[in-house]
Amino acid sequence: MILPVIMAGGSGSRLWPLSRQLYPKQFLPLSGEQTMLQETCARLSGLQHLPPLIVCGEEHRFTVAEQLRAIHQDHGGIVLEPAGRNTAPAIALAALQALASGEGDPLLLVLAADHVIRDLDAFTKAIQKACESAQQGELVTFGIVPTAPETGYGYIRRKNSNGNNRLDASRVEQFVEKPDWETAQKYVQSGDYFWNSGMFLFRASRYIEELGRHRPAILSSCERAMASAAVDVDFVRPERSIFLQCPDDSIDYAVMENTADAVVVPLDCGWSDLGSWSALWEVSDKDDNGNTANGDVMLYDSRNCYVQSDHKLIAAIGLEDLVVVESDDAIMVAAKDRVQDVKKVVERLKAEN
Ligand code: GDD
Ligand code: MG
Repeated sequence: MILPVIMAGGSGSRLWPLSRQLYPKQFLPLSGEQTMLQETCARLSGLQHLPPLIVCGEEHRFTVAEQLRAIHQDHGGIVLEPAGRNTAPAIALAALQALASGEGDPLLLVLAADHVIRDLDAFTKAIQKACESAQQGELVTFGIVPTAPETGYGYIRRKNSNGNNRLDASRVEQFVEKPDWETAQKYVQSGDYFWNSGMFLFRASRYIEELGRHRPAILSSCERAMASAAVDVDFVRPERSIFLQCPDDSIDYAVMENTADAVVVPLDCGWSDLGSWSALWEVSDKDDNGNTANGDVMLYDSRNCYVQSDHKLIAAIGLEDLVVVESDDAIMVAAKDRVQDVKKVVERLKAEN
């Protein structure tokens, strides 16, 4: 049986100043009327599955519970991290919770809470196709045909990529998380690589085995934290002081770059990770000059810009390929091909405060 695990603990720092610590992007309605978390739940409608497990930060427990209640979404528990340690530990907590809950060894469908998927049918079919490999113990990734040398993604090269039917599942030859721009460009030009969509399907026990093999310290912290977890109705709280000792790492670096048992299933479903302002611009409605303007905005002779105002009028003349965002207490102006670096601004602000 499929057990969806929704990872909703990211800080969304590349969408600053919109996405903030207390209200990161997965809890905002960025791509429609529902919040991104609610859209992620709605996306499960075509699959037979157990009620999803949500993993998020302690500080977001009421936001998550309230957003699920608002759409009458059942869930199988909300696992609360005392502090973010990235996705490798977050998924380990969910896998351990699943294995302890008496549902056997379910297939974990790991989903990010901040993706846009336009073609639900294609999404559902790719997951159904992936179930067989996952049952057999493979760690399945879903691969997107890349359109640009994005450095914020993982890259996946299939084994025997030549002559394979592009839609078949294939074994993974190489997984490279967030390469530099030159490498990413080489990969995209070669035509042999997929982007990692950031969604995964595997048996709970297989993830635990692979994590134990490649990052035993993470597994051991998570096991000990879950062995002393406190359960309070829907909320599961891993033991704080133990979990705080857990190393910080993503599933991509910790497991997917190292495992010998990865498979990639191609996914063509209008996928987008709204991870950056340029990604948001890509999926937004645009005027004839390629501009997205939200709020009180006047544009003259400007092209391919994303301009958003929350309070003040923004008048812009002769801009090209820029992002301009005005919010309560900050204004951000960035070249569209530099928006990955918004993260650096946030890091610096954190360090200075
Ligand atoms: N619970 C929890 N705890 N969730 C987390 C944590 C954490 O500590 N850190 C991140 N998340 C959630 C985020 O909210 C998001 O839904 C998901 O996990 C992925 O984290 P990101 O921080 O957005 O990862 P990324 O976008 O840099 O990279 C991943 O996704 C790319 C595609 O979107 C990787 O898997 C890349 O390989 C992939 O290409
Ligand atoms: Mg992301």
